[in-house]
Amino acid sequence: MPAYKIAVIPGDGIGPEVMDEGLKALRCIAALDGSLDFSFTHFPWGCEYYLRHGRMMDEDGLEQLKAFDAILLGAVGYPGVPDHVSLWDLLLRIRKGFDQYVNLRPVVLLDGAPCPLAGVKREQVDMVFVRENSEGEYAGAGAFLYPDTPHEVALQTGVFSRRGTERVIRYAFELAARERKTLTSVSKGNALNYSMVFWDKIFNEVKADYPDAQTFSYMVDAASMFMVREPQRFQVVVTSNLFGDILTDLGAAIAGGMGLAAGANLNPERQYPSMFEPIHGSAPDIAGKGLANPLATVWAVSQMLDHLGRADLGKVLLDAIETLLKEGKTLPVDIGGSASTQAVGDALLEKIGDTFANGRKQ
Ligand code: NAD
Ligand code: IPM
Ligand code: MN
Repeated sequence: MPAYKIAVIPGDGIGPEVMDEGLKALRCIAALDGSLDFSFTHFPWGCEYYLRHGRMMDEDGLEQLKAFDAILLGAVGYPGVPDHVSLWDLLLRIRKGFDQYVNLRPVVLLDGAPCPLAGVKREQVDMVFVRENSEGEYAGAGAFLYPDTPHEVALQTGVFSRRGTERVIRYAFELAARERKTLTSVSKGNALNYSMVFWDKIFNEVKADYPDAQTFSYMVDAASMFMVREPQRFQVVVTSNLFGDILTDLGAAIAGGMGLAAGANLNPERQYPSMFEPIHGSAPDIAGKGLANPLATVWAVSQMLDHLGRADLGKVLLDAIETLLKEGKTLPVDIGGSASTQAVGDALLEKIGDTFANGRKQ
């Protein structure tokens, strides 16, 4: 029986609360299925660790993580540690160090999830974002010049390499072809006259290798407008690091909120472990109160199962989330219910149990 080694980094704020529920769902599904096993190793890294040790993770943290089949991460960041320190020394260090250059973020309006858009049918919100995750606007290249003088200057340079741009666009073309979906590139070549002109050029180059692909190209400002007014325009979407970051929070807002938005940080070559996480942050405003919605984390666990070659089990988890939402009896507070984080996790176990009791098809 395959036994997967999973590294667990619950992190800060609501991170540990939602992670508990994600692991509960994963343990449940593994026990009921009986054909695979997981071992979990917890890492205490995060802002509390920083306050004690002066760093967010061990110096050889990446070395320690290398041996795992996958990483589950809760959330990082807390008041008391500057955000650029906490994120760059943990989350971004892993994404970059393990060359997780694809950030795969579904924006799918599940049955029962609340949608703030009037006149939009549920099936019209069904997209997946392929966000560039290793360079671009978040390459970390820049400088402060003449600090603390009246002449001070901040420089932040976008880095778009041919290799980095081409590989993520190619991944998106492959995904669209596999799933028989359209592919939309989001850029901004009119104002960003180097980086985004380059992005568009590479997109068109790669497109020549996919003569059957149906493609669209929008500027990011127009794309954000269309996401709200005509979300059905988008199926697979490929875009840069910054634009993908912003558009997937917008996507979360139209598909049920931050409590339902998940993402996979993939190293497609599987040279390094990939990492799965809810896309929300540590939510200090609700931390420790049992108010966090754990469903985004469970969805991330479902993405991890897909990645480990068990899309059948990934689907069981996602279906369980959808059934819970559709029934509407045990909903978390952010989507209009009154159930605690734990109660939502417990209710989800019942739904998973029902699936197996009803004879899940292998
Ligand atoms: P946030 O996502 O933590 O919170 C934004 C809003 O959404 C808050 O009102 C919060 O209560 C709500 N929210 C988020 N997740 C929720 C959930 N699961 N259930 C219910 N409500 C939820 O973003 P922020 O406030 O901008 O950032 C807080 C901290 O998190 C900062 O330190 C930031 O740098 C960090 N951050 C980390 C990640 C990550 O670890 N991946 C992502 C974003 C922000
Ligand atoms: C996300 C987050 C991170 C990002 C931050 C916290 C560095 O916003 O995962 O969307 O921008 O990638
Ligand atoms: Mn974000």
